[in-house]
Amino acid sequence: MRKISDWFGIFVHIQIKITMSIVKTLGQYIIEKQADFPYAKGELSRLLRDIGIASKIVNREVNKAGLADILGEAGEINVQGESVKKLDVFANEQFIAALSVGGECCAIASEENEDIIIIDNEVSKNAKYVVAMDPLDGSSNIDVNVSVGTIFSIYRRTSLSGPGTKEDFFQRGTEQVAAGYVIYGSSCMLVYTTGKGVNGFTLDPSIGEFCLSHPNLQTPKLGAIYSVNQGNFVHFPEGVKQYIRYCQEEDKSTNRPYSLRYIGSGVADIHRNLINGGIYIYPPTLKSPRGKLRLLYECNPLAFIVEQAGGKATDGAKRIMELDTKELHQRTPLFLGSSDMVDLSGEYMKKYSEVKA
Ligand code: F6P
Repeated sequence: MRKISDWFGIFVHIQIKITMSIVKTLGQYIIEKQADFPYAKGELSRLLRDIGIASKIVNREVNKAGLADILGEAGEINVQGESVKKLDVFANEQFIAALSVGGECCAIASEENEDIIIIDNEVSKNAKYVVAMDPLDGSSNIDVNVSVGTIFSIYRRTSLSGPGTKEDFFQRGTEQVAAGYVIYGSSCMLVYTTGKGVNGFTLDPSIGEFCLSHPNLQTPKLGAIYSVNQGNFVHFPEGVKQYIRYCQEEDKSTNRPYSLRYIGSGVADIHRNLINGGIYIYPPTLKSPRGKLRLLYECNPLAFIVEQAGGKATDGAKRIMELDTKELHQRTPLFLGSSDMVDLSGEYMKKYSEVKA
């Protein structure tokens, strides 16, 4: 007769086997997918791994944000006598540090830095890739416990060797090698594409690994959500106003009226719409006539992901990923999400710009 402790041992063994057979970590997945690129030497895989590591550290700090009263407000000296950094500054430093030691990236463009950051240490100065990022998008939401995110975009450098240059970033979104975002929400998730579909990984805090949770993400062709800062309505172009009126009309055959959902934290709004279907719009306004969002490190990577999931992204007329990048912090209007919705919003934009002209 077996003892209870034997049965317990067998049970634990089976559990471990089941866990091992169903969980695929980000690291395992990246290595497996390297075979999709026959000439790849593993640099991109290592770059993605470095981004994954930095995002785990940022997640840890974001999770502590509510403890500001105990640990000290940003800008103060905490109980350990260390100065407490604002989380967007902290996130920027973490990603720069991870990319600097990784050796696969020769320059970074960040929302937090006016100019590019050149990584010219011995291992990195001739690296093939440059990375554009928004280290903590929607950071004003942290104080009120709302999800925030990191957005990243990876390009092959265009300069041949030596330190990375600003011009290395002046490429169209269609040239992106990989792009992704991390959402620090009710769970922490990393979603990325290398141009062969989109996959989502959820951080399992018990093992400290991102695990494949959303393989081959596809966004619905038509959703029932529109996301826009409607407080700016009076300043919107006529095409956007009319499209919003369309979203609000009653029509059973098209499932209207749609729901308005706007968190004001771009990654969170876009992640929800990617999964459930919907459209996110940040149009030009009186205050921001060229739109608010940045082409290089917000719109292009989000457009790459959404297109890879079957959706679309435009500036109201042209495809986002075909716009010319001329400045690091260039802005553009953004219409992004389910393809039928982006197409229709474009038709409204066209129709009402013609009326004005
Ligand atoms: O890029 C900055 C950002 O915070 C996005 O994350 C968000 O979608 C947008 O701005 C919100 O802007 P507003 O407060 O003007 O609606």
